[in-house]
Amino acid sequence: MSGPTVPERVVVLYESMFGATRQIAEAIGAQLRPFADVVVVNSAGAGPDELAGADLVVAGGPTHVFGLSSATTREEARKIAEHSDSGLVFEWAEVSLGLRDLLHELPHPATPSSFAAFSTRSSKGPRMFTGSAARRIDRELRATGYRQLAAPRDFLVDATHRLVDGQLAEAAAWGAELARAWGRHGRHGMGPKTTGAAVDGG
Ligand SMILES: Cc1cc2nc3c(=O)[nH]c(=O)nc-3n(C[C@H](O)[C@H](O)[C@H](O)COP(=O)(O)O)c2cc1C
Repeated sequence: MSGPTVPERVVVLYESMFGATRQIAEAIGAQLRPFADVVVVNSAGAGPDELAGADLVVAGGPTHVFGLSSATTREEARKIAEHSDSGLVFEWAEVSLGLRDLLHELPHPATPSSFAAFSTRSSKGPRMFTGSAARRIDRELRATGYRQLAAPRDFLVDATHRLVDGQLAEAAAWGAELARAWGRHGRHGMGPKTTGAAVDGG
């Protein structure tokens, strides 16, 4: 006897100054959507409640000074966007706490929750030269008690802070990979989601 199928709840949480990490988050969310209830949440204005009850949290941010942003680096980002010929739009709501602060505030998950961390970073060289916000996020979430579903993943931007060609396709492929990994290791497996009452074969 089976009741209605409850779709898994996935939260894709991102921080973004100029939109690159947001676009990656949206591409990942789109891949997971056939399998789960997916929300893509801007960490600006979000609180720990946003993650409550999530079976899978996919969290990402831009790499600033080798790690996560701070009030100082967000202010630098604002100045970069304000430069007359940058063509960038500053998307961050300045009253907000950063992703770093939000991660610090997270309680130990009440139900077993998996996570995967991502970042955007410079394409100038390997991670050891550029740093990676994904590694910091990965460390924070493991320390809080989340279970790692996949290794931290970086997506690349050019010197103008825009995504390098092909990175959205890479993000979509990684999203699909997460769905498969969830199918192998997740709590219930990630099959196509069923809305409304399940078809009861018995
Ligand atoms: C203040 C500041 C510091 C940065 N520091 C680094 C860094 O240490 N390593 C790196 O790879 N990229 C660095 N970057 C580039 C960012 O990673 C890039 O702006 C970001 O990926 C763009 O994503 P967003 O539009 O979602 O903010 C820095 C950018 C800013 C504004």
